[in-house]
Amino acid sequence: MDKRIKLTDIKQFSVSNCLTLDIKHKDNNLEVILVRYSQAKYAAYINRCPHTGVNLNWQADQCFDMSEKYLMCSLHGALFRPEDGHCIYGPCTGQSLSQLPIEIDKDEIFIHLDGLNLSKSVELS
Ligand code: FES
Repeated sequence: MDKRIKLTDIKQFSVSNCLTLDIKHKDNNLEVILVRYSQAKYAAYINRCPHTGVNLNWQADQCFDMSEKYLMCSLHGALFRPEDGHCIYGPCTGQSLSQLPIEIDKDEIFIHLDGLNLSKSVELS
């Protein structure tokens, strides 16, 4: 069975915006960041920096750097491309955020949980 969870309505979500969300699925808690990085481009990632495993955001819903082009880790300032989560600057350069499958259906954004190994995805590297 298809398991999807609504993350937000598109209308409430402007460009260069980020939402930090906690999702409960079975016995797992999944911390997610949902980003809108251009007019109609969205991506979702597990909210965990590949450097030490901390959350990227320094406040709720604050993930972009000052230029609003990159996602920035709050601890050591690593920069990640919002379109694919690849780190282009900082101590984890070359690594990537863990991307999550999303779907846009009418004006709503959903995350797909089918096939996700949540116990593995919340494990620190
Ligand atoms: S913890 Fe994110 S850059 Fe160090």
